[in-house]
Amino acid sequence: MHSETDPKQAPFSEFRGADAVVTGAASGIGAAIARRLASLGTRVVLVDRNADQLEAVGKSIREQGGNAVPAVVDVTQPDAFARLVQCRGLEGFAPRFCVNAAGIDLPRSKTGDYPVENWDRVLSVNLSGVFYAMRFAIPRMIARGGGSIVNIASIMGHRGIEGQPAYTAAKHGVVGLSRAAALDHAKDGIRVNCVSPGYVDTPLLDFMPAEHRQAATAKHPLGRFGTTSEISDAILFLLSDQSTFVTGACLPVDGGYLAK
Ligand SMILES: NC(=O)c1ccc[n+]([C@@H]2O[C@H](COP(=O)([O-])OP(=O)(O)OC[C@H]3O[C@@H](n4cnc5c(N)ncnc54)[C@H](O)[C@@H]3O)[C@@H](O)[C@H]2O)c1
Repeated sequence: MHSETDPKQAPFSEFRGADAVVTGAASGIGAAIARRLASLGTRVVLVDRNADQLEAVGKSIREQGGNAVPAVVDVTQPDAFARLVQCRGLEGFAPRFCVNAAGIDLPRSKTGDYPVENWDRVLSVNLSGVFYAMRFAIPRMIARGGGSIVNIASIMGHRGIEGQPAYTAAKHGVVGLSRAAALDHAKDGIRVNCVSPGYVDTPLLDFMPAEHRQAATAKHPLGRFGTTSEISDAILFLLSDQSTFVTGACLPVDGGYLAK
């Protein structure tokens, strides 16, 4: 029997006092959702391999009264997450929320010429890293009675893109992995969803030549790139109790890119 959410409960109050882990938290989309969660009273474990930037994000969150714990972790190392709980203060860490935003992109090259080394790097960060993080978070979410996970896929998780075989394959993988995990853990009270951003101006796009930027902008019916704040809005919705009947879904936040 469906019971209505208590209308007196303030939206997003579930985040106050909860624990979250955010990968890729030193920059771009990960940093934006980490800041948003901290502003709602969540203790956020900030995971990234970039120690200096991670420390800077943690410091600025704490200066604004938020609770952030930086943890230098390379998401391609399956055992690195387990070492998180050996950090002081994180011994019994059991996140209710998990966002997987760590990702890389590498210069374009056709599939027939694509360097094997780049293939391995992109797949290990963008796909295996998401699996390792969920492999860490899910048993701990089960132990605490449930949770909500949002993985950052991409429009390239739904379309083939020339010159980006590894990124396209990894992001299709993130969509599939999220669906499988959603099915596996629905009965455990864990929801798993994806957000598929269109282009967002973050350091990930630094390598992109100006002519590619123009062409990419034109592919978004809204005529611009998105912002990290717009992507965070969607992540927050999927993490939150505003979406308790949503799991295994992939929400495009793409200015209409996938509508074509
Ligand atoms: N920017 C876009 O246009 C766009 C579009 C669609 C999807 N995405 C996805 O959104 C996510 C966030 O990207 P962003 O745009 O914020 O990029 P970003 O470069 O600003 O941030 C990515 C973060 O991931 C971290 N990272 C990379 N490899 C790591 C590793 N091995 N271990 C730990 N951390 C690692 C980086 O240090 C960086 O802080 C990525 O998954 C990306 O693929 C981005």
